Amino acid sequence: MADILVVDDEQRQRSILKTILSEEGYRVYEASTGEEALKILKERAPDLVLTDLKMPEMDGLQLLKKIREAGGNQPPEVLIMTAYGTIASAVEAIKNGAFDYLTKPLDRETLLIKIRQALQRQQLLRENISLREALYDKFSLNGLVGRSTSMQNVIEMVKKVAPTNATVLIVGESGTGKELVARAIHYLSPRKSRPFTAINCASIPESLLESELFGYEPGAFTGATTKKKGLFEVSDGGTVFLDEIGDMPLQLQPKLLRVLQDGELRRLGGQSPIRVDIRVLAATHQDLEDLIDRGLFREDLYYRLRVFTIKLPPLRERREDIPLLAEHFLRKYNQEFGKRIEGFSRDAMEALNRYHWPGNVRQLQSVIERAVIICDSGLIELSHIKDELIERKKGVIDIEIPDEGIVFEELEKELLKKAMQKANYVAKRAAELLGMSYKTFWYRWEKFGLGKKADSEE
Ligand SMILES: Nc1ncnc2c1ncn2[C@@H]1O[C@H](COP(=O)(O)OP(=O)(O)OP(=O)(O)O)[C@@H](O)[C@H]1O
Ligand SMILES: [Mg+2]
Repeated sequence: MADILVVDDEQRQRSILKTILSEEGYRVYEASTGEEALKILKERAPDLVLTDLKMPEMDGLQLLKKIREAGGNQPPEVLIMTAYGTIASAVEAIKNGAFDYLTKPLDRETLLIKIRQALQRQQLLRENISLREALYDKFSLNGLVGRSTSMQNVIEMVKKVAPTNATVLIVGESGTGKELVARAIHYLSPRKSRPFTAINCASIPESLLESELFGYEPGAFTGATTKKKGLFEVSDGGTVFLDEIGDMPLQLQPKLLRVLQDGELRRLGGQSPIRVDIRVLAATHQDLEDLIDRGLFREDLYYRLRVFTIKLPPLRERREDIPLLAEHFLRKYNQEFGKRIEGFSRDAMEALNRYHWPGNVRQLQSVIERAVIICDSGLIELSHIKDELIERKKGVIDIEIPDEGIVFEELEKELLKKAMQKANYVAKRAAELLGMSYKTFWYRWEKFGLGKKADSEE
């Protein structure tokens, strides 16, 4: 049977309640002030608090706020008792997370019904929490959440590769969690108490990147008056995360390869090699093989990097992860903003599940953050998220590739024809629909033998 804490400054009121509730089989604790109540809450963790609203010193509303602030895994439900005429503050209490209010003088039946309802909700919430925790144990690793087969594979790979010294290449679209994976690898490795240093090769000017990474000797260039250790040296014993490795200037790539192969580097203007003990993790959203074809990335470096590759699929290809991630971020922002939102309405969750998430997990995270900020009820509703889910414009079509494969050119041809139909045979518009120039459109149209451009169409 449940435990109930009765808080009221009037002794007579407390004893009436105690009699009623005990007869029903509840165990009852009593407190005559808010302070006393807080003490009992700490010691006994009752399932429900039945508190008077008007009390000297700490009133019911303040007590409620304190209970909510304390948080904890299984906070009690709170029922407020109020005299007729103070309904406004009772409503305020509900906004602050009270389950309901009862007006005095209390009606025995109503009292018992509301208590039963509150305890029922308590029960449900607790079941939900333990379910969630079970999910977490199984589907997360160092902040990396995912239940899809592909994310479970990623988690397995991270676990396997983390304890080694292997260089890892992490690839995936923007916002898929590449940096998070890199951090997980570092913190699960024996290097965890040594520095994790991240550097974004795309955001540092080419001229600076070399001295940043490798350091320099005095006189290496004008302005280099003292010697400076580079990032690789400073991170000795730790992990260096080279983000956007595809943007590493070609002329620096052999130097990096040397670090990877021999654990050696030379400062700018330096003569003798310096030994470093670092582990390198690299990430990119670009297709490195394509960069190699275009002469922008060295093949030898690529083969060195890709020995152990972790591929993060875009969120739209692992939709089973969406509810779990949404729940994860809801929890995070509930805590951060001190809210108690319990979940998502059905249509809000459906919209999240349906969306194509061009910005991947990062976008989902910011959608939930914003929703938590603007939501002031117990549930995230469609209205809290729908403005952020901008429908796809160009580019993304979910095409299933059948087992026997497809002929790419046939697909392209189909797209050209479909665009032309949709554009009512106005070629300019068709080209726009496909995001290509008018010229390119006609070039392809003619190439596939779909017709010739009439001169008048220029
Ligand atoms: N599987 C996941 N579980 C929990 N949080 C995730 C997951 N994947 C990504 N995130 C969160 O999404 C945000 C973006 O992730 P991250 O910065 O690692 O992406 P990225 O792939 O490095 O993106 P970019 O290419 O734009 O740098 C981070 O706040 C990260 O914590
Ligand atoms: Mg990143």
